[in-house]
Amino acid sequence: MTTDRVTTDRVTTETKVELSINGRRHVVGVEPRHTLGDVLREQLGLTGTHLGCEHGVCGACTVLVDGEPTRSCLVFAVQMDQTEITTIEGLAAADGTLHPVQEAFSACHGLQCGFCTPGFVLTAVHLLATNPAPDRATIRRELSGNLCRCTGYVGIISAVERAAVERAAVERAAVERAVTNAAAVAASAADEPSSPRH
Ligand code: FES
Ligand code: FES
Repeated sequence: MTTDRVTTDRVTTETKVELSINGRRHVVGVEPRHTLGDVLREQLGLTGTHLGCEHGVCGACTVLVDGEPTRSCLVFAVQMDQTEITTIEGLAAADGTLHPVQEAFSACHGLQCGFCTPGFVLTAVHLLATNPAPDRATIRRELSGNLCRCTGYVGIISAVERAAVERAAVERAAVERAVTNAAAVAASAADEPSSPRH
């Protein structure tokens, strides 16, 4: 729904958009000129999305829109109606446990001043979802659209590499547990006496 609002010096037109952000539904009135980044920060208080260059170069403002990394400074909020958005605030578990990529950034000293971190982390989450075992060169290439003004790329690349290795270990352990459980069920079924025939 579009409504006109007259202010002292101009007429603004607001459009209601429905956004699902980190699993929560929000209905917000936005002006056509508002970027997604502005709405996240100014209207919804999600200030973990950082705005650096505000013209699509640095990647600091990256969020996931329907699972795809998107520069929130380059899209208008009105374009985002009915989309699923993930910001950095949506990665940790409800009990505060950090996402494995966040843990890895901390462990590998990839955080530094933290300004570019939300964009890097969300880009890395998407990378590992689409390519669970990237090599270092691939990580470097896939993160090349994000700029770090602290210039400490080594820790960042190591963090993504570590998250991939740890994720593979967790998945391997889950498969091993499933195989062990299946073998135990099969063994106990074989031990059960067969029912007598009449
Ligand atoms: S703030 Fe969006 S790309 Fe730099
Ligand atoms: S950690 Fe400071 S800008 Fe990247």
